[in-house]
Amino acid sequence: MDDTQPTPDRILQLINGYWATGILGAAASHSLFTHLDAGTDTADRLAAAAGISERGAQTLLDGLVSLGLVELSGGRYRNTPEAAAFLVEGRPASLSEFAKLKLGHMGALTALPDVVRAGGPVTDATVEVADNPHWEKVVTAIAAQSVPVAKIAAEVLGLADRGEVSVLDVGGGSGVYSAIWLSLNPAARSTQLDWGPINAIARRLLAEKGVADRFTCVDGDLHTADFGLAEYDIAVYSHIAHQEGPEDNTATFTRLRDALKPGGTLVVNDYVVDDDRSGPPFALLFASEMLLKSKQGGTWRRADYESWLSKAGFEDITFQPTGSPATLIFAR
Ligand SMILES: C[S@@+](CC[C@H](N)C(=O)[O-])C[C@H]1O[C@@H](n2cnc3c(N)ncnc32)[C@H](O)[C@@H]1O
Repeated sequence: MDDTQPTPDRILQLINGYWATGILGAAASHSLFTHLDAGTDTADRLAAAAGISERGAQTLLDGLVSLGLVELSGGRYRNTPEAAAFLVEGRPASLSEFAKLKLGHMGALTALPDVVRAGGPVTDATVEVADNPHWEKVVTAIAAQSVPVAKIAAEVLGLADRGEVSVLDVGGGSGVYSAIWLSLNPAARSTQLDWGPINAIARRLLAEKGVADRFTCVDGDLHTADFGLAEYDIAVYSHIAHQEGPEDNTATFTRLRDALKPGGTLVVNDYVVDDDRSGPPFALLFASEMLLKSKQGGTWRRADYESWLSKAGFEDITFQPTGSPATLIFAR
């Protein structure tokens, strides 16, 4: 066989890529990774533990072996180190809720051909709707992805040793940055701007961490809310830039520059595309999510951030990889 000739294998895998979303989402829905972690290691025992059919358990296990998330040895199944780290429930970095959420979003992709033709959402937009219940499921499911990023940002900012420090988190969602930063620094205070129902979720989660007394919420629209003048040492804009267009990002960065004290730092976290649009792969793919869900969003290039942040009055702009698909941007 001539192995320089292309084969259809990879394309077939891509065409059927939804199998992976389905198998992973179904396994997470039935806590399979958590049962495997507890030592339940055969299809019949997993079926009994998860309350599913044995045929279903075996099919999921076969699929998970194929996807490289479960290993089979001597007739016994176990999580790969990757699945053990990121798919067992209850761990800070667990993506199991996110896997379930994305399974629910899968049907929306059938609109993509129409969305591409129209250049934006063809049914109700998601991002532009005030108090959209969409976020209530999203913010807790995505929080785990910001945990390592918030820790890296804390290191860079020397947050633990900074004493009294005030933080503004715009679109803070679950309050993941505040939860981590207020736990690291007992003199830090944080204000989160988000829709009311989301702030209620964040307040509950921060109370569970015992830091709610230093956490203030402002309910409202980030485009019109008053951020104040020279009030904060640090501002956070994490996974917001991709839902916004260039003009809105520039306007918000300008208001955030004003809200920061002189010398304060804006921390942006997002999927940043290389200037020549050649990568990284996750950031390139994520743009389709924003085409589906927002009127103006997308994944933006480093040069876009540099231009908007400079226009907003920031002078020192640095990009830092995070070991995840997201990039941190520090602007002073
Ligand atoms: C993708 S989540 C990011 C959450 C968090 N910053 C993180 O990185 O995990 C987007 C957040 O922005 C909030 N949001 C979106 N549009 C908003 C708007 N116009 N005004 C206020 N909050 C908004 C959503 O409610 C949600 O909490």
